[in-house]
Amino acid sequence: MDANFWHDRWETGRTAFHEGKPNKFLVKYIKALNLPKGARIFLPLCGKTHDIAWLLAQGYHVIGAELSAIAVDQLFETLGVEPSRQQVNDLTHLSADHIDIYVGDIFCLTAGQIGHIDAIYDRAALVALPDEMRQNYGNHLVGITKAATQLLLTFQYDQTKLDGPPFSVPEEMVRALYSSHYTLTRLAHETLNGGMKGQPATEEVWHLTPPP
Ligand SMILES: C[S@@+](CC[C@H](N)C(=O)[O-])C[C@H]1O[C@@H](n2cnc3c(N)ncnc32)[C@H](O)[C@@H]1O
Repeated sequence: MDANFWHDRWETGRTAFHEGKPNKFLVKYIKALNLPKGARIFLPLCGKTHDIAWLLAQGYHVIGAELSAIAVDQLFETLGVEPSRQQVNDLTHLSADHIDIYVGDIFCLTAGQIGHIDAIYDRAALVALPDEMRQNYGNHLVGITKAATQLLLTFQYDQTKLDGPPFSVPEEMVRALYSSHYTLTRLAHETLNGGMKGQPATEEVWHLTPPP
């Protein structure tokens, strides 16, 4: 999945991954993260998700990373906010009250740029990446956030029956990627209504907590 794949998706409006409302698992399980108001939550590969408006309404500060300028312009338009823009190396930093979005490749983002992160919310980010990118992604995410606690949503289905994205990320893959940095707790394991493009599928919600 290279950058052109995603740019093409946004340019042609093929964004079925974009949910019309805040994600039900985020709304249900955010309390597991035990975050104070004002906590800084990082959304990797954030698209223009409504989860951002919901998190802002809960009193959190949102930091996001997204490849597509189209997605981010639409995000700020929906929020009704005119951000300030600053070019920082290969990334464009769009910011407004309680929100900072970095437009460009997440692998160019540094810990110094995003500052302190209290928690990561990964919805449709890890599962958007093919197998060969996931280890780098996991390491990079842990590195730039200093292993901030995570709420991670995944899908599982028979990968031999279907191409991603979204890709199937079974439990053993979550453990292989993250168990050296975090304690892993599975908060939910539910059948995906309607399956994944006709294949039976499940969704899982993981809470990743760093060692004390
Ligand atoms: C499946 S979408 C999920 C978007 C969002 N998390 C949501 O729940 O709607 C994956 C997003 O990752 C973005 N993306 C893919 N590769 C990226 C990269 N290397 N750096 C930053 N964003 C990337 C794509 O443009 C796309 O918007």
